Amino acid sequence: MTTSIRPRRSALYMPGSNARALEKAKSLDVDCLILDLEDAVAPDMKADARAQIVAAVQGGGYGDREVVIRINGLDTAWGEDDLKAAIDARPDAILIPKVNSPADLERAAHKLALGNAPQTVRLWAMMETPLAMLNAAAIAACGRDPEVRLSCFVMGTNDLAKETRAKLNPGRAVMMPWLMTCVAAARTGGIDILDGVYNNFSDLDGFAAECAQGVEMGMDGKTLIHPKQIEACHAAFSPSEEEVAWARKINEIFALPENASKGAIQVDGKMVERLHADMGLRVIAIADAIAARSNA
Ligand code: COA
Ligand code: MG
Repeated sequence: MTTSIRPRRSALYMPGSNARALEKAKSLDVDCLILDLEDAVAPDMKADARAQIVAAVQGGGYGDREVVIRINGLDTAWGEDDLKAAIDARPDAILIPKVNSPADLERAAHKLALGNAPQTVRLWAMMETPLAMLNAAAIAACGRDPEVRLSCFVMGTNDLAKETRAKLNPGRAVMMPWLMTCVAAARTGGIDILDGVYNNFSDLDGFAAECAQGVEMGMDGKTLIHPKQIEACHAAFSPSEEEVAWARKINEIFALPENASKGAIQVDGKMVERLHADMGLRVIAIADAIAARSNA
């Protein structure tokens, strides 16, 4: 379960085999980095990428950026070695691909415990298989189990399209039931959820539209594939000044003595309930946490 608010507006993937990208990441204004050993790395390069990622994470220099290592699945030829190496590297989180059920996370968590990984090393889960869509609530419940230490869902829309044969088209109409099911599941588990990637990184307008859709859906942030996508992503997922001002205003008004016993009040011609004030507190906390970051 996430205990303190941490902005996860942007999570940039980079191939673990790409030394230049691993270095460049230290200067990018991004909330999270996903150093990948899985889909972005060819089989011949897996061992080199693993060594390179361990050296990069141990070498540090990533500041406040949350550093996440995506390993290969534990049923593949590389998974066990990846997990051992990732545990030694002590990243902020280890991202498990193609999670189908809680057992997949429990298996990884067991290895973390055996490897004496501190609780600061969290697990993240790729939600990208048909079975994961059907088991989303059970998987998210791992967020309530301190032994599993699950903190975040990451939507893997490319794999989901491949495995289901559903089309990943602009607007993502057919994906919507799965995406929203995972949002609901994430909330029940008290964890964050990051939206899938937008493959056409040259189309910044299409990307901005998909970010706006993710915000509307309640996603906490979006996974990215190229540095070009960071700015629009942050513009979409950061609370606007107006939102923060409104959040402060309604909380101040509810705090007035004359409103102490009221559940619903009128502000600027709109009904405002205490639940809106609570939502506002989250907006303020996110805005404060963004302001406190030193990466920008
Ligand atoms: N992370 C960090 N830096 C990146 C980056 C990334 N994901 N993608 C590109 N860059 C850097 C390049 O190294 C280059 O830096 P330089 O100018 O200092 O040399 C700069 O950004 C411009 O890159 P560009 O030439 O536009 O792209 P490319 O052709 O080198 O790479 C991709 C295109 C798609 C191969 C690359 O963006 C990539 O590997 N993305 C991530 C893929 C991935 O991890 N997929 C798995 C999950 S979906
Ligand atoms: Mg994948």
